[in-house]
Amino acid sequence: MANKLLEVKNLKQYFGSSNNPIKAVDGISFDVYEGETLGLVGESGCGKSTTGRSIIRLYDITDGEILFKGQNIHAGKSRKELKQFNREMQMIFQDPYASLNPRMTAGEIIAEGFDIHGLYKNKQERRERIGELLEAVGLNREHANRYAHEFSGGQRQRIGIARALSLDPSFIIADEPISALDVSIQAQVVNLLKKLQKERNLTYLFIAHDLSMVKYISDRIAVMYRGKIVELGTSDEIYNHPIHPYTKSLLSAVPLPDPLTERKRQRIPYVHEDATEQMKVYEVLPNHFVYGSESQIKKWTK
Ligand SMILES: Nc1ncnc2c1ncn2[C@@H]1O[C@H](COP(=O)(O)OP(=O)(O)O)[C@@H](O)[C@H]1O
Ligand SMILES: [Mg+2]
Repeated sequence: MANKLLEVKNLKQYFGSSNNPIKAVDGISFDVYEGETLGLVGESGCGKSTTGRSIIRLYDITDGEILFKGQNIHAGKSRKELKQFNREMQMIFQDPYASLNPRMTAGEIIAEGFDIHGLYKNKQERRERIGELLEAVGLNREHANRYAHEFSGGQRQRIGIARALSLDPSFIIADEPISALDVSIQAQVVNLLKKLQKERNLTYLFIAHDLSMVKYISDRIAVMYRGKIVELGTSDEIYNHPIHPYTKSLLSAVPLPDPLTERKRQRIPYVHEDATEQMKVYEVLPNHFVYGSESQIKKWTK
């Protein structure tokens, strides 16, 4: 078994007033192993981005622990250690229009990180590194001097990926990196991410709001609903033996390639049942976890 790169333990992230908090993330636990892709899937508003942002320390978390390479990332770290975390963990954002400054050139955007960290002393080295990164994401060196607004959505996302790679991270959180792109471009970007993962030994947390594309990139998938992870297992398990009714509902919404079967298929609605008994995470099969009460789990696994 590979090493754990990231360990999230009972993470809570609440917003708003303490007497009526928005429980964006409400006690989730998962590990991410070195070299794998963990998909994090759930409908809009369930807490996926908040999870990602908590991991890259954009928030002081409400409760829980996040360990990166065995070290607690929120507990009293020196500036130097924090700088190191910032290099090792990067994020790719959903909207390549909003996340790139249109008045900066591709080269300036990509170089921002290494300028801040003072990685390259001379201009030539810096230019060479920008060129390498552009080529790594399937763009040309000549693109360095073009402004972000001159690129298409897919090309912008490639610039966002090059920016994320600029400090040679080990872990990348891709927050719905293809949701804003044309369907025809989505597979290209997923393939690029897969290729880069192999070449650079990257570990991904890949966030998506449905189960249609995550299958192609994820080794394991965590399904999130209202701030909780309701099911977690290998991609095969999640696709072939889903247990939680919410996962089943999400799966029934994945379009099928054959239009005839697709037309006949029924979407399974999800009806949420709050259990009156205690709810917790059960390991229903080896490495396949489901959140619920004892009687719910019994019913769902019958
Ligand atoms: N900074 C914030 N302040 C207050 N509420 C927030 C903040 N960020 C997210 N939320 C709320 O937390 C919940 C989860 O949001 P988010 O993590 O963005 O969901 P997702 O990425 O799954 O769509 C939503 O109800 C959202 O409105
Ligand atoms: Mg989001």
